[in-house]
Amino acid sequence: MIDLSGKPIAITGASSGIGRATALACAKAGMPVAVAARREDRLADLVKQIRDAGGRAIAVKADVVHQADCDLLVERAVAEFGSLYSIFANAGIGHEARIEKMSDADMRGIFEVNYFGTLNTLRPALPHVLASRGHILICSSCLSKLAMPYHGAYSATKAAQEHVARAMRIEMRSRGVKVSSVHPVGTATEFFESKAARTGTSVEQNSPPRWAVQPPERVADAIVRCLRRPRPEVWTTWVGKTVFSVTNLSARFTDFCLNRYAHRKPRD
Ligand SMILES: NC(=O)c1ccc[n+]([C@@H]2O[C@H](COP(=O)([O-])OP(=O)(O)OC[C@H]3O[C@@H](n4cnc5c(N)ncnc54)[C@H](OP(=O)(O)O)[C@@H]3O)[C@@H](O)[C@H]2O)c1
Repeated sequence: MIDLSGKPIAITGASSGIGRATALACAKAGMPVAVAARREDRLADLVKQIRDAGGRAIAVKADVVHQADCDLLVERAVAEFGSLYSIFANAGIGHEARIEKMSDADMRGIFEVNYFGTLNTLRPALPHVLASRGHILICSSCLSKLAMPYHGAYSATKAAQEHVARAMRIEMRSRGVKVSSVHPVGTATEFFESKAARTGTSVEQNSPPRWAVQPPERVADAIVRCLRRPRPEVWTTWVGKTVFSVTNLSARFTDFCLNRYAHRKPRD
């Protein structure tokens, strides 16, 4: 088991949800934490909470769409903590619409944040993570395995992230760096409100059923377990992992099931 105390981590999308919960869980495990997002007031609260509990943390305002912001995050983390053990590319957005109704700007926009934002985040971190023989974490989704109707673009970004993680895992192995993708199922965060606001849909319509939603702390705890005992993929439920993974075995059966689901929730 890897002792995490004193091993610095940088986390994007840490102003709410999974990123915030992971920052708190990592700090509790003794990791110095550099937190990034666009909302500085949220980051300042988080840093205060970590420092008040005796941890080390810094905040860096960063929009992952901009390479220079991601460079600054890594630069500040290394300047403050002396090294970087782990990077968690977590910032992400959703979008709910029929594929044919998404504008080119919408389609490119979600890829800019979820996919290219991940690459922008990893790029400056890589030399430092290599030097520490550290751990790269990418927040994908259960939907990397299954394209949900009306979430085709989102699912595509999550599949792209998963494939980056899978390729890097093998590329990095001989150099001592661990690479894991994180696959949350429905998680109670601001994700659904942000998505509804962005796409003009209702929160009720585009949220998973209440019984299927887990708290972000559950994902955060699973991530800390993965940092301690590295594994290729982080899931919080074996049932979820199995159900989402077997959908790839039969497109016909999966279409049949999704067709029933899609017609329960009619859209424009
Ligand atoms: N919630 C779920 O059910 C679920 C399920 C599977 C996967 N995920 C994935 O989990 C990750 C975290 O989402 P969440 O559920 O925790 O949602 P969330 O509470 O909405 O958090 C998203 C975070 O990303 C940040 N962000 C968004 N756009 C950004 C940008 N351009 N640059 C920098 N930061 C940006 C937001 O901060 P600012 O607005 O302050 O920048 C926020 O901190 C995402 O990658 C999402 O796809 C979520």
